[in-house]
Amino acid sequence: MKRTIKTIVSLILCVTFIAGTVCFAGADDALTAAPMRFGEDGRFRILHVTDTHLHEDNVEESTRLIAMACDLEQPDLVMLTGDLAPEDTLELTTQRIDQLMRVFESRHIPVAVTFGNHDSENGAYTREEVMALYNSYACSISIDDGDALTGCGTYRIPICASKTDELKFNLWVFDSGDYDGEGHYANVAEDQVAWYREASAAIENQNGKKIYSLAFQHIIVPEIYDALEQVDFWVPYAFKRIYHEDEYYRFSRANQNYGTLNEMPCPGYYNHGQFAAMTERGDVLAMFTGHDHTNAFGVKYQGIDIVNSLSTRYNGDAFSTQYGYRVIELDENAPDRYETRVVRWYDFVNDKEVKALANDREDKNLLAEIRFFGLFEKYFTDLFVLVAKVTTGRTVRFPD
Ligand SMILES: [Fe+2]
Repeated sequence: MKRTIKTIVSLILCVTFIAGTVCFAGADDALTAAPMRFGEDGRFRILHVTDTHLHEDNVEESTRLIAMACDLEQPDLVMLTGDLAPEDTLELTTQRIDQLMRVFESRHIPVAVTFGNHDSENGAYTREEVMALYNSYACSISIDDGDALTGCGTYRIPICASKTDELKFNLWVFDSGDYDGEGHYANVAEDQVAWYREASAAIENQNGKKIYSLAFQHIIVPEIYDALEQVDFWVPYAFKRIYHEDEYYRFSRANQNYGTLNEMPCPGYYNHGQFAAMTERGDVLAMFTGHDHTNAFGVKYQGIDIVNSLSTRYNGDAFSTQYGYRVIELDENAPDRYETRVVRWYDFVNDKEVKALANDREDKNLLAEIRFFGLFEKYFTDLFVLVAKVTTGRTVRFPD
């Protein structure tokens, strides 16, 4: 049945391609996913789910919460940006991915996947094998870029107008790799940057204007440290720069920012020019990453918002009640803007609509447990913010 549906979808896509719609045309057709479309109301809603780290001890609770988040938010697309189910064997990874993907498959929500540093690091299986697992579900629109590019899972998702085939928006999805040969985290590679540069320019030529876009990947760009402010080591709530012994950073008052900087951002060591290419092309409004599980912030730097999202899992303890998901909303009548918000589990469980979405006893027990643990975590966080404000005069947590 799945195969039949995929065949029908492929046929429709082929016919659309032959008809030469703007949404499909491009120099990068092999790396272009099935186009999405703005809704009747002109809106497009993305649920950003990342760093689920699904294992035996958290998969049930995490997938229940993600299912309720889908029911609450009604996304048009789920973006999965890596470190999702890094189990020891392919068999276990298959089980975890099945539990996650059935959430989306049963709700007919399209899913786009790319990978993080942990997704294939143990060498027991490859990224390509894991991508094949995701793509065995009809709801996956992800692309295995094969030998074309470094890594697996670098592609473009076009979003068409609600009522025509005009290309209104793009989503760039990058596999930001795992580690370089020296053990540092990786960054998006040169050939991926070259692909983006060429595809972006071709799209501008074809459409006679820049098409605004968002980028999604696991690992944040090194430029995050240019966007922050370097301070002395003794300044409260400053974080040490990764790979640098004596450099400490916090939010810069010079740049627009919001959210929580709760840990050291961890980009790769070698910079292959992704952020520079994006500022040069001028079509990316914001880059969304995961990787740094407790950071939920956005910093505007050189015209691009560098945005980090929380780990979307719940481990059965107070600390993970501060995890959650991000929602991003687009408007086809204002494609040069986007809206975003973070939802933490400890706020999520107190939403009246969420309480009504609890489907069974297990859901209700889970919400009650998070409410209990979350109370402590929330007051602890509020206290942390208050102490920081009183002792330093500085707000360390801006609204998410
Ligand atoms: Fe990671």
